[in-house]
Amino acid sequence: MCGIIGVIGTSHSASLILEGLKRLEYRGYDSAGIATLDKNTINRQRSAGKISNLEKHLETNPLTGLIGIGHTRWATHGPANEENAHPHSDGQVAVVHNGIIENFQKLKDELSDCNFESTTDSEVIVHLISYYLDRGDNLIDACRKMKARLKGSFALAVISLKENDTVIGICQGSPLAVGYGNGEMYLGSDSLALLPMTSKVSYLSDGDFCILKSGSVQFFNSENKNVKREIKELSIDASSVSKGSFDHFMMKEIHEQPQVIRDTLNALIDSSSRTSDLSQLNIDINDLSKITIVGCGSAYYAGLVSKYWFEEYAKIPVEVDIGSEFRYRNHPLPDKGLAIFISQSGETIDTLYPLRLCKEKGQYILSIVNSPESTIARESDSVIKTLAGPEIGVASTKAFTTQMVTLAVLALFIARKRNHLSEKKEQELVSALLELPEKISEILNAQDSINKVASQIKDTQNVLYLGRGHNYPIALEGALKLKEISYIHAEAYASGEMKHGPIALIDSHLPIVFIAPSDTLFSKSLTNIEQVSARGGRVIALTDEAGSEKLNGLHEYLIKLPKAHEFVHPILYSLPVQLLAYYTAVLKGTDIDQPKNLAKSVTVE
Ligand code: F6R
Repeated sequence: MCGIIGVIGTSHSASLILEGLKRLEYRGYDSAGIATLDKNTINRQRSAGKISNLEKHLETNPLTGLIGIGHTRWATHGPANEENAHPHSDGQVAVVHNGIIENFQKLKDELSDCNFESTTDSEVIVHLISYYLDRGDNLIDACRKMKARLKGSFALAVISLKENDTVIGICQGSPLAVGYGNGEMYLGSDSLALLPMTSKVSYLSDGDFCILKSGSVQFFNSENKNVKREIKELSIDASSVSKGSFDHFMMKEIHEQPQVIRDTLNALIDSSSRTSDLSQLNIDINDLSKITIVGCGSAYYAGLVSKYWFEEYAKIPVEVDIGSEFRYRNHPLPDKGLAIFISQSGETIDTLYPLRLCKEKGQYILSIVNSPESTIARESDSVIKTLAGPEIGVASTKAFTTQMVTLAVLALFIARKRNHLSEKKEQELVSALLELPEKISEILNAQDSINKVASQIKDTQNVLYLGRGHNYPIALEGALKLKEISYIHAEAYASGEMKHGPIALIDSHLPIVFIAPSDTLFSKSLTNIEQVSARGGRVIALTDEAGSEKLNGLHEYLIKLPKAHEFVHPILYSLPVQLLAYYTAVLKGTDIDQPKNLAKSVTVE
């Protein structure tokens, strides 16, 4: 949700900021801008729309200066136009902001003498800093006083004519990293943005304030104490953030699934005994009373799938909730409860706030995250990393499947520790997981049937996805993927629910995607397929060889998948729904990696 970047100590500041912004574009792409400090003037260039617009603009209006800040916006307050694009500036101070200032209207009323140029919540920060500077404060004190007045979540980068050798970074509820160069210093919403410039970074803790000068940085915590923040060496290779030979990050990331699932499994499984190995978890598993799982979007669906596994194998009650709903319910959370938070970015505010609530209520906090340095990871009692690597496409693919893989191993681990799973059965289930990379590669090598179905649904207005048992969340995920990247309306139901309402929609136009592997519930799915077919509905069946033999021509299209153990069906059947959404979006010509209105990291409520 908005990306910010700061650079100090190089005459190439504007071009480095532009490059950094391109890497942060996944966080928002409604508008972009850069401000630099040059010979005691603040110069700014801003453009509505994507960073490519700003880039074109900079070709004819270049920015110079040793110090600069930049921003890519996901609009919250005010339309996505140039006036609302960051950096905001009054000529004396320039600011970029990620987050939301909840009390901006009150502050704006107080500062009514100032000339507000935008309708954003962020501009108030500029005028507040100038207010304190005009009354004699130095930049650091002015920023401290400004910070104390703000309510909400924010990561900020500030420059000012008053101290033209400084960039100030402030982090409260939104992430910020400092990068160390050769005499140059950098600030960024995440370390990926800094990767081409440096592999040495420090992460600000919540409430931190930092002062960047050429070649140095000082950190202060929320109590204004000078503190040290560890310098970490990034292990990510800069090429992992490029598309390689693929047209889109999403397709590249879909193809990475065999490898990242293998990597994730290798870290969680003892290969010699073929059993789960999560001994690093410091939880008293036998005493667990309940598992609460929270996530948003695809991460929530991964949690829903795991509910079936935890209940089936570990025999433990599980409640799964959407982050934005969980926080506003009054839960009777039990003693000795385990709360699991699932997030690719580790920064989703709707997931983070329930985490804090569960912590207050004495739950053991375990997070499953793809960004180990994220706020959610840092605030958890234990963390299991999904080893998906950087996911740049806004639609989650490899992060989603590695989340499910991780939850599957966790369910087996808890099941065995609670004596509900024999070693032999565990080995059978672990073997099924270990076979996944090969089976996924088989799907990736035979995508024609999926592409063909995409050409049949690309012009439709609506698609219905149906699935049963642990495949029901995959129907939800399929509908979400299709909606977000092709803009076709899609809905998902548990197959059995169809007759309780959605059946009214069936006609010869509505495509209905059945996630129907030949599992223990297949005969029930077949009944639903028959119900659709009897009403002239268009059945797109996702099943295996055995399932396809029983379809008896009830389907219009068939996407045949390799036979696999029932336990891993939700993971395997994620592939065709990802690919179907992808090919449909390609045919529709939408912006697949950056669908409209969306952002990769959602750090506002
Ligand atoms: C869907 C998608 C979103 C995210 C959700 C949670 O393709 O990407 O639904 O899954 O916004 O994000 P994280 O996992 O970063 O908490």
